Amino acid sequence: MQQVNLGMIGGGTVGSGVYHALEQNGDLMASRLGLQINILRIAVKALNEPRPYAIPESLMTTDWAAVVKDPKVDVVIELAGGTTVARAMVLSALESGKPVITANKALLSAYGEELFEAARKNKANLYYEASVAGGIPIIKSLREGFIGNRITHLYGIVNGTCNYILTRMKLEGAEFETVLDEAQRLGYAEADPSLDVDGYDSLHKIGILASLAHGFWVNPRDIYVEGIRQVTQADIRFANQLGYTIKLLGIIKRIPDRVGANNNGSHVQVSVYPVLVPHSHVLANVNNVFNAVFVRGDLVGDTLFYGRGAGKDATASAVLSDIADAALDLKFDTKCRVPPFVPHEKQGAVLPIDAAVSRYYVRMHVVDQPGVLASVAALFAENHIGISSVFQPEGHEGQGVPLVVMTHEAPNAAMHSALAKIRQLPVSLAEPRMIRVEDFE
Ligand code: NDP
Ligand code: HSE
Repeated sequence: MQQVNLGMIGGGTVGSGVYHALEQNGDLMASRLGLQINILRIAVKALNEPRPYAIPESLMTTDWAAVVKDPKVDVVIELAGGTTVARAMVLSALESGKPVITANKALLSAYGEELFEAARKNKANLYYEASVAGGIPIIKSLREGFIGNRITHLYGIVNGTCNYILTRMKLEGAEFETVLDEAQRLGYAEADPSLDVDGYDSLHKIGILASLAHGFWVNPRDIYVEGIRQVTQADIRFANQLGYTIKLLGIIKRIPDRVGANNNGSHVQVSVYPVLVPHSHVLANVNNVFNAVFVRGDLVGDTLFYGRGAGKDATASAVLSDIADAALDLKFDTKCRVPPFVPHEKQGAVLPIDAAVSRYYVRMHVVDQPGVLASVAALFAENHIGISSVFQPEGHEGQGVPLVVMTHEAPNAAMHSALAKIRQLPVSLAEPRMIRVEDFE
């Protein structure tokens, strides 16, 4: 049987997961592909690090460049993480004409334009299924499964760590820091977990999906991001009472021309922020480390993808699917997959967040005294924001009390202006907190 040799860089959570998965299911893949898959070498930083799955020392080296250069290596797999050395790893492999598989969404977000161009120039494919939503085959689905659709909406819970934290905070009243420690121990979190909790990992992933769905390179600087550090137990509890669950969502929405038309075509909202999701919506019930991506296409209608978004085995599953594609592409000499976006295409633009429209949950902390509600309502009215409901737990006159307001739709700019003025009210005791509400219409 023909053999394809892999050179892997990284033997940590995902790398050792891939090694173990090939040990477990390599024969199954060989029988399905008619090709033997062989891991020839694995580069790591230090040979004696503890690994989630053991890797024989005879396979390991600390010289990644030797793995890339090895003439017997047919496919290079980058699972080292980071953006500096990883960029050099991927570029050097592509420049030597070798196909590359990566799970590195931070790298693709920062250098995707350059790397996909290098792949095109060197007629070597770049595969990245594991970069978004762990084991869920969302890249292949958008790239191939939905190729005949205009994607109008995509909502994704794409960070397992944040979903794990928010779930445990809601179901068990757990503290943020304790749950984050656990997510790190389980191998879900990034080496720098602020990438997870501040929303940047979701930003990287949602940018990759937006480029694929809309065919133009979405610059990460144009993506609005908020993480989950500001979400409190009080917000989770009040949202629950109002019929909502708080989730960190990546949102990609094609905006009808009347809101954001420019000369080159329509605008697309691309953003990441915590959202109040109605309990009745399926995304409200995606819990723990699970991810889900909801995609609406003009032909297919609504679709939903659900699965583990992080962890060694689920992510290895996605890498194995890229290995299969790479092996078959080598066998049949396929030089090009559907490109992730059209280079230099200006057919779309990202909508500035100030122009994005949504409903809002606003939690204030105010003095419980006559007239407070009226002065808050006046500031919303001044900014053309309609109030749809008001909730205040019973307090003691003259003391601080939470005041929760749900609003009708308004642009983000109007909400920010209202919040700035509410903060300046003498009865306002703390920074008002706003979380957007999504109706999925
Ligand atoms: P780990 O930190 O667990 O593993 C990184 C591996 O890369 C380690 O084996 C490390 O060696 C090796 N490495 C780092 N720098 C070098 C270098 N210069 N030369 C050779 N080897 C090097 O990270 P993960 O496995 O969690 O993540 C890998 C990639 O996969 C990242 O891009 C991440 O974002 C992505 N990803 C992670 C998921 C997850 O669930 N963890 C899910 C989806 C994507 P050593 O072991 O000696 O330290
Ligand atoms: N840190 C990431 C997460 C890993 O928690 O989703 C998977 O990309």
